[in-house]
Amino acid sequence: MRVFVTGASGWIGSAAVDDLMAAGHEVVGLARSDRSAAFLARKGAEVLRGDLDDLGSLHRGAAAAEGVVHLANKHDWGDPAGSDRAERAAVETLAEALVGTGRPLVVAATISGIVEGRPVRETDACPAVGPGSDRGGSENLALDYAARGVRTVITRFAPTVHGAGDWAFVKFLVDAARKQGVSGYIGDGSTTWSAVHRSDAARLVRLGLESAPAGTRLHAIAEESLTTRTIAEAIGRHLGLPVVSVAPQDAADHFGFVSGFFADTMTASSDLTRELLSWTPTGPTLVQDIEAGAYAEA
Ligand SMILES: NC(=O)c1ccc[n+]([C@@H]2O[C@H](COP(=O)([O-])OP(=O)(O)OC[C@H]3O[C@@H](n4cnc5c(N)ncnc54)[C@H](OP(=O)(O)O)[C@@H]3O)[C@@H](O)[C@H]2O)c1
Repeated sequence: MRVFVTGASGWIGSAAVDDLMAAGHEVVGLARSDRSAAFLARKGAEVLRGDLDDLGSLHRGAAAAEGVVHLANKHDWGDPAGSDRAERAAVETLAEALVGTGRPLVVAATISGIVEGRPVRETDACPAVGPGSDRGGSENLALDYAARGVRTVITRFAPTVHGAGDWAFVKFLVDAARKQGVSGYIGDGSTTWSAVHRSDAARLVRLGLESAPAGTRLHAIAEESLTTRTIAEAIGRHLGLPVVSVAPQDAADHFGFVSGFFADTMTASSDLTRELLSWTPTGPTLVQDIEAGAYAEA
């Protein structure tokens, strides 16, 4: 399949490109800079120069492809509303280009804020609806297109998609531990996160693209529930630092912006995903990755 991948130079996207190409797909990757274009060319992918702010480039990429994987995101923590607006506009543009074709559109999503008190299931709808909501309501927007001849596949990733080179939440926690000289968890550390290794997440993206039915929500979740204390303990062992509780009122100062996420329980199951696509995670666990030095200083 000729697949247009946005975010192809990103953490999950670059692994997805490798996985897609290894499975015999042709990849056209969106690149917004010379650096990203060169990175994709080195992988043997075709490059489409464009930007999330250039919706014409997204439309061209999608219209010329047999399938689309959307993994780009501005991740502008200083302007989350701007990132959300861009996300909604991108999803709408990509989906519009595929209306009536039956072609797959895989859209990245998260499990954040979907339900509380139990792990999120694939059957749980995302409460974010409309432009002003989380991620611009893009999950539900994309799903609406399943009734308009687009094979929409939502892939909700665990809050940590981990591995060597990860720049996201766990990296921020490791950086905070180095800076503070202790590895902290908030309160009693009983809040829980799910986790998935990047290689397993990338394979799930490909499996969803290849065969998930229209309107499917997939969960890229390998480990359903890890306490935040377990994560802090692994970081402490890796760095040789004491592990301490941080009072909730001190968490923002101690951890920085990631404190809000570390204070949240974000867990989900992937039973339906595993059954639907025979997906079995095989990568290292988060604790194995931390202990093996995946977050060692470069
Ligand atoms: N990583 C996680 O743990 C995690 C967890 C849950 C959900 N997710 C979601 O999964 C998706 C992929 O995440 P990721 O971790 O792979 O993200 P990432 O490493 O930050 O990569 C983002 C990608 O988007 C591209 N991009 C950013 N701004 C752009 C713009 N203005 N125009 C065009 N491209 C732009 C980047 O291009 P450059 O390389 O040129 O910068 C990069 O390829 C995102 O939607 C993310 O929110 C990730």
